[in-house]
Amino acid sequence: MQKRLFLHATALAIVALAATNSVAQDNKFKIGLILPMTGQQASTGRQIEAAARLYMAQNGDTVAGKKIELIVKDDTSIPDVTKRMAQELVVNDKVNVLAGFGITPSALATAPIATQSKTPMVVMAAATSSITQASPYIVRTSFTLPQAAVAMGDWAPKNGIKKVVTLVSDYGPGIDAEKYFKERFVFNGGQVTESLRVPLRGPDFAPFLQKVRDAKPDALFVFVPSGAGAAVMKQFLERGMDKAGIKLIGTGDITDDDQLNDMGEGALGVVTSHHYAAAHPSAMNKKFVEAFGKANRGMRPNFMAVGGYDGMRVIYEALKITKGAGGGDALLAAMKGQIFESPRGPMFIDAQTRDVVQNIYLRKVEKLNGQLHNVEFDVIKDVKDPGKNK
Ligand code: DHB
Repeated sequence: MQKRLFLHATALAIVALAATNSVAQDNKFKIGLILPMTGQQASTGRQIEAAARLYMAQNGDTVAGKKIELIVKDDTSIPDVTKRMAQELVVNDKVNVLAGFGITPSALATAPIATQSKTPMVVMAAATSSITQASPYIVRTSFTLPQAAVAMGDWAPKNGIKKVVTLVSDYGPGIDAEKYFKERFVFNGGQVTESLRVPLRGPDFAPFLQKVRDAKPDALFVFVPSGAGAAVMKQFLERGMDKAGIKLIGTGDITDDDQLNDMGEGALGVVTSHHYAAAHPSAMNKKFVEAFGKANRGMRPNFMAVGGYDGMRVIYEALKITKGAGGGDALLAAMKGQIFESPRGPMFIDAQTRDVVQNIYLRKVEKLNGQLHNVEFDVIKDVKDPGKNK
């Protein structure tokens, strides 16, 4: 234990030391992008890397006289690996910014590295409310589960849904989704009869879904991370739960645009709340979706892609504002308070919380030009993370 503590302290000291050197770098500006490129969360990495590269292709790779270098690392979504990679990127590569972070445990494991080395850390995917509190150097461009889940807690009881069972992945974002959905739903007169949690790694949804089928609630509220939605949908439909009158609702992670079109017609009518849909009807989004598809053999961007694209925007702008001079603190200050139009709609990085303020949309799966899409039918504007008020 002593030895571990010592090693830990030494590692942090090295990271802190490296930070002082990292500012005075030649004409390069390095972004260390750590993502799950393989394993269960691989679609998150694929989407975010594609979006970051698209942003660079559209906006050039020279900003304020600095040549932008993107260093992509695959953490396989193992938090210890994420942390080690962040350390290496700071100490050896002397990156100016850390970015990516596919899942909450990876973001939380890396937070101390950002703090010690004073390196801005742009969280483009992970979405547990508390992440931004883990380091003053964290800025988030994805979303938070409380943000999305509360909207569903308002919509469901107004639409004939009174009894719900919740089913979430048993870690940060799932627990946030469960808690904030339930709180608002119960406040509005709904009843959550059971709260089920499935493991994050290698989940088997079958026994949980069987339980829900027997309980026959009006709806099943689901949160699973991006990439796991299709498996839930398949088993939900195979059990005939929709035919038994159980509606499927949740945050938009379940009808992930990366997978939605392959989920089949059984997905039609599923209502979710989220901050981004590929079908978002703005001129900017249409251009984004088209360019993203063109650069990636027809791939449809999902909410992870937009987090990566906007994260790059926040980094580029910070570099412009600081005119290529200044270290981590200056960059961080320039990231705070940014306000801009994203493919998702208007977006704001709250300077106090360093978290994203954005619209949350209610969407229903429908066919558009023969393809399954999340079609927005209502909006709650400028939603702050409700988790920050606790
Ligand atoms: C997280 C991961 C996801 O894939 C997602 O859709 C939401 C949250 C997370 O680990 O924070």
